[in-house]
Amino acid sequence: MTASILLCPVCKESLQANDSNKSLSCANNHSFDRARQGYLNLLLAHKKKSKNPGDSQEMVIARQAFLNSDFYRPISESLNKIVVNLALPLKQPIQVLDIGCGEGYYSQRIHHSLSDHQIDHKLHGLDISKDAVIAAAKRAKADAHKAAKPMTNEWLVASAVEIPLQDQSIDIATCLFTRLMPDSYHKVIKQDGYFICVNTGEKHLIELREKLYDQITKVEFDPVKNMGNDFELVDQQQVSYQNTLSSQQQIQDLLLMTPHNWRTKSENKEALSTLEELTVTIDAQIHVFKVKVKEKEKPADTINPWGKTTQEITPPSQLAEMPAATVTELPAATPDEMPIKSSTEMPVETPTEIPNKKSEANPSKEKFNPWLK
Ligand SMILES: C[S@@+](CC[C@H](N)C(=O)[O-])C[C@H]1O[C@@H](n2cnc3c(N)ncnc32)[C@H](O)[C@@H]1O
Repeated sequence: MTASILLCPVCKESLQANDSNKSLSCANNHSFDRARQGYLNLLLAHKKKSKNPGDSQEMVIARQAFLNSDFYRPISESLNKIVVNLALPLKQPIQVLDIGCGEGYYSQRIHHSLSDHQIDHKLHGLDISKDAVIAAAKRAKADAHKAAKPMTNEWLVASAVEIPLQDQSIDIATCLFTRLMPDSYHKVIKQDGYFICVNTGEKHLIELREKLYDQITKVEFDPVKNMGNDFELVDQQQVSYQNTLSSQQQIQDLLLMTPHNWRTKSENKEALSTLEELTVTIDAQIHVFKVKVKEKEKPADTINPWGKTTQEITPPSQLAEMPAATVTELPAATPDEMPIKSSTEMPVETPTEIPNKKSEANPSKEKFNPWLK
């Protein structure tokens, strides 16, 4: 069993489990009970901006139903291959963190993939939405029950703004369709660790968006710029395919799990309500970052998992898989179109919710958000 890397959200001391693992406490006697479903709530009440931050239960249920249909499975498979390739050369056991894990579809699949490759690991799924974390813990418990094994993953209600994990404790962190907070990630990822983000590309769900909006915003988002100076890009891939939504329920689930649901005019949503099928394009961008080694600390021939020295890595702009548009600079997006704030701009003590559920001035015009699914 790997040692706990959890931190007390009150005093930042190490949290250790009691004998039955039903609660954890720190040296200052702050104690946190494990919920019946197995997750830990480390989000302090006074740090919440709203009663139920993050995705609502309705969104979580819709996302779980949709993801369980394996519509996005190719994204998960590409991600898993990357995670396994990165993990294989690392010293085991490894610590994995899925930030904004939602209801745990991708996290659990990462866990299964690492287990299939006999990679000793502990996965932490973190989300600010309690409903999402409950769903993820239930999913993991059901999986463990099926395999007649104990649930080893840790499910945390917590904010990505202030991750309750020890500094430099994570080997590989993932973040799918969730806002990037590089300062916060940099704190918890090891010096030789990796960060992988998945966000939507220009053509993602274009057919659905064309039905919902009178005007489509061109997607141009650069995670490299967003990740700032502490991370360097080492790989990027595009997952692109078409698939057919084959029932009204599936179309509604997809709509409900995205912010398109609350930012679209109801008359535009009606265009979808009579459809029994809709073929859509899935366009996901995967970016793999390594924590940047400061020049003076850099060994002469640092080897990366693709077998090249870091000096030989193809510059991001020359990578063939990546359409030029997605590596260009963000156009003149207004702050509410592009709610990116680095964690330095965000008050550390205030966990923020993503997405910002403000009403839109002109809901018929699509506002671009690269994390829309
Ligand atoms: C679009 S969903 C993606 C969920 C999951 N990664 C997936 O792809 O299925 C974004 C998730 O980020 C969570 N979230 C929003 N703000 C957060 C924050 N400050 N800290 C942690 N999670 C947050 C939401 O609750 C939601 O579950």
